[in-house]
Amino acid sequence: MSLIQLLEFDQKGDERGTLVALESLKNIPFAIQRVYYLVSLDAKQPRGFHAHKQLKQVAICLSGSCTFVMDDGHDKEDIILQSPAVGLYIAEMMWHEMSNFSKDCVLMVLASDYYDESDYIRCYHEFKKRAAL
Ligand code: TYD
Repeated sequence: MSLIQLLEFDQKGDERGTLVALESLKNIPFAIQRVYYLVSLDAKQPRGFHAHKQLKQVAICLSGSCTFVMDDGHDKEDIILQSPAVGLYIAEMMWHEMSNFSKDCVLMVLASDYYDESDYIRCYHEFKKRAAL
């Protein structure tokens, strides 16, 4: 199965613009507990470099573009996000790295739980060991 799981959201568009609605357990596969977003990103400074033990997330590039590398400990795949109507599902135990941010990149992330540093695996070696279990 591909490591890249994309969610395509309905776009309600008319001459006034486009509207996309995101709803817990409907077009988002978990109950949303937290939303955060990344702005003023630097193309030369990649981010992420961690996995989560339990947390599930959906990343949506609302403006501009960026690249995600997804790594389950066995395989790696990358994807360019560049549509506000597409979400990238980031399951638990998926190492992810973000890079190549365009100047206008606005990256929004929906998360299944509150921020908890103890849910992070920030050491790639530890991630590989856990992924092999
Ligand atoms: P970090 O995990 O390093 O960001 P990224 O994965 O994009 O590289 O987070 C940056 C800082 O923000 C770090 O001090 C943790 C903090 N943070 C919160 O306080 N709440 C949150 O919801 C998130 C995602 C991060």
